[in-house]
Amino acid sequence: MLEKEKIEEILSGYKKFKIATICSHSSLQIFKGAREEGIKTIGIVQKGKQELYESFPYGTPDEFIEVDNYSQIPDKELVDKNAIIIPHGSFVEYTGPKFDDLEVPIYGNRQSAMWERSRTKMFEWMAHAGIKRPKILEPDQIDGPALVKFPGAKGGRGYTIVNGTKEFEERIGDRECMIQEFIIGVRAYPHYFFSPFTKVGYKTKHGKIELLGVDTRVESSADEIARAVSIGLKPKLAFTVIGNQAMVLRESLLYNYMEIGKKVSDASFDLFGGIYGPYCVETIINEDLEIYSFEISARIVAGTNIYPDGSPYSTYYYKEPMSTGRRIARELKIAHKKKKLNEIIY
Ligand SMILES: Nc1ncnc2c1ncn2[C@@H]1O[C@H](COP(=O)(O)OP(=O)(O)OP(=O)(O)O)[C@@H](O)[C@H]1O
Ligand SMILES: [Mg+2]
Repeated sequence: MLEKEKIEEILSGYKKFKIATICSHSSLQIFKGAREEGIKTIGIVQKGKQELYESFPYGTPDEFIEVDNYSQIPDKELVDKNAIIIPHGSFVEYTGPKFDDLEVPIYGNRQSAMWERSRTKMFEWMAHAGIKRPKILEPDQIDGPALVKFPGAKGGRGYTIVNGTKEFEERIGDRECMIQEFIIGVRAYPHYFFSPFTKVGYKTKHGKIELLGVDTRVESSADEIARAVSIGLKPKLAFTVIGNQAMVLRESLLYNYMEIGKKVSDASFDLFGGIYGPYCVETIINEDLEIYSFEISARIVAGTNIYPDGSPYSTYYYKEPMSTGRRIARELKIAHKKKKLNEIIY
């Protein structure tokens, strides 16, 4: 992993800064938010996609850098343009392990990528945080529906359900995977934002967190499967993410969710120097109102795209429409003014 000193050295050469990201995932929101805060933007775009982005006047970046392939991030050109990268889900996905060594300042702590990439490490992080999670099972412990997750499967693709040890041995065998108890309930994805500077928000050990929104995902076939079942079909349950829907939690759950956000934040400081800015904890709430956390995303999640003009939560922190994209731009502006960009960038 690239040394932090190297990034500090690059940053010390920046007078003004621009916000850059790959045109995908939540980039329209990131560019719009930066524009609202008066910060110039750069879109790294694949050949053929520029016209699409230009067709959204408030979501388009101020300038484009065209690439053949998203695995090649033009780091020198970005540094010449004084860019700070906002990593979103697709950014991390497309760059892969190269992410760790990118010679461009990245908002947040790039060490978090390592903790996210491995499901075992992520569960270690959640265990350290002391939050409830689905049980991880050994093959001989399966005695009811269990979800088998393979490494690197993004968007839930390729996951499968087994009902017992015998079925596991027949269908999965020795393949590398993680087996989780299958939790039945409603999924909720809270969008947190950590800041070491802000005065508003829920107190954590190292700063404060705001809850900027909540969404739930729409997954195919899982979320529409009742139709198929009602006509007598028995399709396989699958979890391919198709989109996101707005969600507001019953208010009595808010305390629990702020505590989950706080514990995950505090644990990230104990383990690897903290996460900065947006993150999400993927949860399922069962009928007894128990909340199970099964994944952490240490960056802006696509569910925030529902709220480009603020959410039913951001309205209690800000008078102006505050999306996660805009909140990121504002945080960088504040840090720049305080001469503390180093603290939140690596
Ligand atoms: N323990 C569980 N019990 C029940 N359903 C689960 C469980 N874990 C995951 N799921 C379902 O499977 C989906 C995908 O799971 P997960 O988030 O682990 O996949 P992923 O490939 O890491 O996806 P992404 O990185 O896009 O979030 C979830 O959105 C949820 O619907
Ligand atoms: Mg997930």
